Amino acid sequence: MLLTTRLKTATGQLHRAAERHPFVSSMLGGRLSSAQYVRYLQQLLPVYQTLDRLSQEHIAPKLASWSEWDLPRAQAIASDLMHFGHTPAPVDSGATSAYVEQIRASADRYRLGVVAHFYTRYLGDLAGGQMIGRAVASAFDLHDENGVRFYRFAAAQAQHPTMVQIKQELDRLALTATQIDFLEHEAQRSFESSIALFDSI
Ligand code: HEM
Repeated sequence: MLLTTRLKTATGQLHRAAERHPFVSSMLGGRLSSAQYVRYLQQLLPVYQTLDRLSQEHIAPKLASWSEWDLPRAQAIASDLMHFGHTPAPVDSGATSAYVEQIRASADRYRLGVVAHFYTRYLGDLAGGQMIGRAVASAFDLHDENGVRFYRFAAAQAQHPTMVQIKQELDRLALTATQIDFLEHEAQRSFESSIALFDSI
């Protein structure tokens, strides 16, 4: 089975749990205060600072189309925080530090270990993230990309084809069966950490 099919199957149940999380429902229903939304972005900032850096370092050299996808998100999150009137300083809650540590440890295990987090976060942002972005724009009355850059990718008009291309390139990575087993488990943990982050707000 292809790597991304394995990851999708292994995380299906957790994906449903993430989608149905009360924090996500509040975000989709426009019921979050701006203080809660800012806290969410502040917690995501260190997660993406780590993920962006390790993806650039370890995964990007193995993916032919990396530079076309515009995946790193930390700068966009920092810009959104400034739009909401906050200095883009990362805030470390317990959930955030644990997530950051988990991403670091996955890359220490072996260089492509971070693929599990790459999959969970960037593909999530390209997919369900787009629905969240529209809900956030409507809730906070944002009419252009200011405040919602987190959800804007250069390939915004072609999210689905971009996701297909990303998956094809991930599926071509040279990985052993043991490494794929690890990635499957790690992707589940990445969803669990995302859910723990929602719990903490
Ligand atoms: C508002 C909540 C969410 C909704 C409505 C949602 C919806 C979706 C949809 C419709 C897809 C399929 C897109 C496609 O195949 O073209 C998808 C894929 C995905 N989502 Fe979500 N999602 C949500 C939250 C999340 C969260 C919180 C995460 C992770 C932290 C996440 C991670 C993913 C991943 C990794 C995929 C790719 C699955 C695959 O095809 O392998 N999603 N999501």
